[in-house]
Amino acid sequence: MALLLPLLLVFVAFATLCYSSPAGFTEGAGVLPDGLNAAVGETVMFNTTLTPTEKPFQSVNWNVNFSTTIIVVINSEESIGPEYEGRITFFTSTASLELRSLTLGDTGEYSVNIVQDGKIQHGRTILVIYEKVSNVSVTSSSTDLVEFNGSVSLSCSASGSSLSFLWLNGSSEVTASDRVQLTDGGSSLTIINVTRSDQGPFRCHVSNPVSTGTSDPVNLSISYGPENINLILSPSQGYFAVGSDISLTCSVGSRPPAQFKWFLNGDQLPDPGSELRLMNVNMSQSGNYSCQAFNSKTLRSQTSQPSDITVLGKSSSVKPSTNLPIEGTSVSLTCEASGSVFTRNWMKDGSDLTPTDNMILSDNNRVLTFNTVNRKDNGEYFCQISNPVSSDGAKYVMTVNYGPENVEIKGPNKINIKGTLKLTCSAESTPTARFTWFLNGTEILTNSAEYIKEEVEFSDSGNYTCQAWNNITERTSSSVVHGLTVTDQPSGCAAGCIAGIVIACCVIFAAAVGGGYYIYKKK
Ligand SMILES: *[C@@H]1O[C@H](CO)[C@@H](O)[C@H](O)[C@H]1NC(C)=O
Ligand SMILES: *[C@@H]1O[C@H](CO)[C@@H](O)[C@H](O)[C@H]1NC(C)=O
Ligand SMILES: *[C@@H]1O[C@H](CO)[C@@H](O)[C@H](O)[C@H]1NC(C)=O
Ligand SMILES: *[C@@H]1O[C@H](CO)[C@@H](O)[C@H](O)[C@H]1NC(C)=O
Ligand SMILES: *[C@@H]1O[C@H](CO)[C@@H](O)[C@H](O)[C@H]1NC(C)=O
Ligand SMILES: *[C@@H]1O[C@H](CO)[C@@H](O)[C@H](O)[C@H]1NC(C)=O
Ligand SMILES: *[C@@H]1O[C@H](CO)[C@@H](O)[C@H](O)[C@H]1NC(C)=O
Ligand SMILES: *[C@@H]1O[C@H](CO)[C@@H](O)[C@H](O)[C@H]1NC(C)=O
Ligand SMILES: *[C@@H]1O[C@H](CO)[C@@H](O)[C@H](O)[C@H]1NC(C)=O
Ligand SMILES: *[C@@H]1O[C@H](CO)[C@@H](O)[C@H](O)[C@H]1NC(C)=O
Ligand SMILES: *[C@@H]1O[C@H](CO)[C@@H](O)[C@H](O)[C@H]1NC(C)=O
Ligand SMILES: *[C@@H]1O[C@H](CO)[C@@H](O)[C@H](O)[C@H]1NC(C)=O
Repeated sequence: MALLLPLLLVFVAFATLCYSSPAGFTEGAGVLPDGLNAAVGETVMFNTTLTPTEKPFQSVNWNVNFSTTIIVVINSEESIGPEYEGRITFFTSTASLELRSLTLGDTGEYSVNIVQDGKIQHGRTILVIYEKVSNVSVTSSSTDLVEFNGSVSLSCSASGSSLSFLWLNGSSEVTASDRVQLTDGGSSLTIINVTRSDQGPFRCHVSNPVSTGTSDPVNLSISYGPENINLILSPSQGYFAVGSDISLTCSVGSRPPAQFKWFLNGDQLPDPGSELRLMNVNMSQSGNYSCQAFNSKTLRSQTSQPSDITVLGKSSSVKPSTNLPIEGTSVSLTCEASGSVFTRNWMKDGSDLTPTDNMILSDNNRVLTFNTVNRKDNGEYFCQISNPVSSDGAKYVMTVNYGPENVEIKGPNKINIKGTLKLTCSAESTPTARFTWFLNGTEILTNSAEYIKEEVEFSDSGNYTCQAWNNITERTSSSVVHGLTVTDQPSGCAAGCIAGIVIACCVIFAAAVGGGYYIYKKK
């Protein structure tokens, strides 16, 4: 046995030399599998394809790089190479070998020669040791970007050997294009002219034959806009009644969210925010509203088309040019309506107004002018106003002031002394005239239509004059003269009176007798 061992060693060495020639052999030839990969620190198993056997092999020789012996087993006696003490386990039933605590230096071509029943079997394989992928991380030149304004570089770093890089954009692989460059063996990703769709998340996937690693996702924040600005009115109409609540909303595409400014007819309003609420609107709030969006990152802004809002008044009125129209003067009636009015129609005393020569309608029926107003123009004038939110109207009752005219004095021209005198003066006038009385040119009474004098004297004879005055037209009538004579008839019963009574009695008696005779004759 002791003799046999050196002999076998010589044989094995010979066989090793023979097989070391690459001719006719490829990697993984014989009883060993194709190339093996393993990671630093791990364990590799060189399994032979031999059927397990109880019977020990005559000899087994494991070596690496055809130079360094790992283990030689002759008739169950193992001798292990010094570098491999404690790192290997030999499996006697299959001649397989386990190698532990791998280092990068363990890379090499491993071969085994086995003598069994006088037959030599051979195996060869290449083991490559890799450092595992670790610490995969991505750094970005910037994560805060503006669309269409620059490029960004993402760089992937990782520990490990023989690394391959792959970039993921969301779940799909990034491929190079005009815009997208992959450099430094794929570890650098450059996006030229970033767009909003480049937000990622980007991950770097690193691999080698023994492991893989993926970075944490990196999100790019890409600012864009404002764009597609739109001003929306709610309710969506242009005309609103006074007191309405209106909401204006400015919608815009922008990241980060835009800041808003509001304008009315080009003047900035103090209200911020994307919504402008106009509560209980009045007419002064009519006008062109627009909104402007500003993006503080892109430093770009956009202004909406103006939205024309018209606040229409509900109240209307008819205003005369004077409160006291005077006949013969010019008077105009103005149909006022707050806000925009679309149609105006005039009516008089309930029927459509038929303008006479004396009337002029102007300013789209807003103003009704009487060149010289006449009392025939008295009546109720109604101006009907229509606009998209209401139909409304206002009336005015016209009373034309005129006079005084046709002054008349009624009363006796003769009166007995001690009788009661009553004179009445009248005149056509609006408003009612005031009267002043004169006797023989001397004022005797003012402010009364009637002049009454009890127990007249002779001195009450004379020329009575009445003058009428209209405090609106400020006209005074021409005087009318009424002559009065006080006659000499007693009011107590003097001689003449008694004679009169006697005559009267005789007449009554005669009448009574005559009347009785007549009745008798008829019977
Ligand atoms: C080698 O054989 C062992 C035991 O039979 C088995 O557990 C292991 O998976 C095998 N390894 C390879 C690389 O085939
Ligand atoms: C085998 O040879 C290669 C290159 O010649 C060397 O890098 C490797 O370390 C060697 N392997 C061993 C186990 O000596
Ligand atoms: C991975 O990174 C950590 C800390 O950043 C470091 O301590 C460790 O050594 C790194 N590992 C490798 C394999 O480079
Ligand atoms: C960036 O891309 C947009 C459209 O994708 C293009 O309109 C613009 O001109 C580009 N800018 C530059 C600097 O290339
Ligand atoms: C990322 O994916 C989006 C679609 O999800 C695509 O539009 C964009 O161009 C991609 N960007 C890069 C740099 O691959
Ligand atoms: C990146 O974006 C995704 C969605 O696109 C989100 O779920 C994730 O939380 C973001 N990550 C970071 C760090 O912002
Ligand atoms: C109209 O409303 C605005 C805003 O509420 C207010 O400032 C203004 O004084 C109002 N104008 C009138 C005439 O009421
Ligand atoms: C609003 O703008 C329109 C045209 O855009 C113009 O015709 C109208 O007069 C404007 N209104 C006001 C109140 O400025
Ligand atoms: C766009 O890019 C130019 C040049 O890189 C830079 O000066 C400018 O500030 C950028 N604009 C914005 C809004 O970031
Ligand atoms: C008015 O004139 C008449 C006639 O001349 C005269 O009789 C009368 O006394 C006069 N009356 C007064 C109050 O002067
Ligand atoms: C009264 O009027 C008559 C005629 O109008 C006139 O002749 C007469 O002189 C007048 N009498 C007085 C006292 O004025
Ligand atoms: C005119 O006189 C009437 C009474 O006749 C009075 O009510 C009114 O106030 C007066 N008007 C003026 C303007 O003096």
